[in-house]
Amino acid sequence: MSKKPVRVAVTGAAGQIGYALLFRITSGEMLGKDQPVILQLLEIPDEKAQKALKGVMMELEDCAFPLLAGMEAHGDANTAFKDTDYALLVGARPRGPGMERKDLLAANAQIFTAQGKALNAVASRNVRVLVVGNPANTNAYIAMKSAPDLSRKNFTAMLRLDHNRALSQIAAKTGKPVSSIEKLAVWGNHSPTMYADYRFATIEGQPVKPLINDEEWNKNVFLPTVGKRGAAIIEARGLSSAASAANAAIDHMRDWALGTKGKWVTMGVPSNGEYGIPKDVMFGYPVTTENGEYKIVEGLEIDAFSQERINLTLKELQEEQDGVKHLL
Ligand code: NAD
Ligand code: LMR
Repeated sequence: MSKKPVRVAVTGAAGQIGYALLFRITSGEMLGKDQPVILQLLEIPDEKAQKALKGVMMELEDCAFPLLAGMEAHGDANTAFKDTDYALLVGARPRGPGMERKDLLAANAQIFTAQGKALNAVASRNVRVLVVGNPANTNAYIAMKSAPDLSRKNFTAMLRLDHNRALSQIAAKTGKPVSSIEKLAVWGNHSPTMYADYRFATIEGQPVKPLINDEEWNKNVFLPTVGKRGAAIIEARGLSSAASAANAAIDHMRDWALGTKGKWVTMGVPSNGEYGIPKDVMFGYPVTTENGEYKIVEGLEIDAFSQERINLTLKELQEEQDGVKHLL
């Protein structure tokens, strides 16, 4: 194996997403089957959490993964993020039944201020950060604002789960395989206001919209199903989504690192003003990636219905940003 190991920090490593994520990172599903990794795992310093983390590390050891080049347990972000090339910020309180993700803002905002500062101080200058902990967009915004010495474009929020959920709904509706669907976009916040948009989508090169040709389904079934899927899973499982969230995190990081070869995926990224979204708002956009950089797909036509939906999700994100102003 000739590649130099890269450092991957994961927070909340003993939590349920962590458990579904770490084994896949270490088997090479995220960064490639030829890329050794050093895991830098962060949990709260609490004895029980650290003990559970040790248990997960014992299991990682027992997998004898050829790509595992090292593994560390941490209770402090300032050591966990040292020189890290990738940071998956998962650790945060999840919502329970009856809560909206923004209800977590007060509980989780401080975590992301501290972790943004720690990344700023000790991470690799090219660190690629994915925020999974909810409310993911605003937490990513907080981390970015707390790390002024790092490039804004290295901070992203996870909307890939919404993107994947939308793909599956479209596949079920059209009877076509998920792998045949391209050019799907999810705009805005990882919340029920998100706007999953198949106006540009194609299946085997043919436009999806005329194939579905059902505006009522779009408004009354598709958008609410995708938007409220997280709550539906909490209701069914009694716990928030974990394996599908970990899978989306793997997809997000893999595509960012290894490229999408022209395909669109959805990432939450800081706006530079694209589609009229104010600068720095952490917004879900369709992107393509190449050589470790993402590029927002520009020039798409926004019709009246889409503009209305984009305005709604933007308004929510701006309210969340206002709610954390005092922390920044
Ligand atoms: P969990 O409670 O099972 O695990 C969270 C872990 O994070 C716990 O082990 C906890 O000790 C740890 N933790 C808490 N604060 C920490 C800190 N400051 N530093 C390091 N570790 C810390 O929760 P989970 O199910 O794994 O979910 C984690 C987060 O991911 C939640 O906020 C959840 O809402 C969110 N989530 C986001 C998406 C998405 O699509 N963006 C999808 C699913 C879940
Ligand atoms: C999800 O979408 O499944 C996660 O964000 C968890 C949640 O609170 O909905």
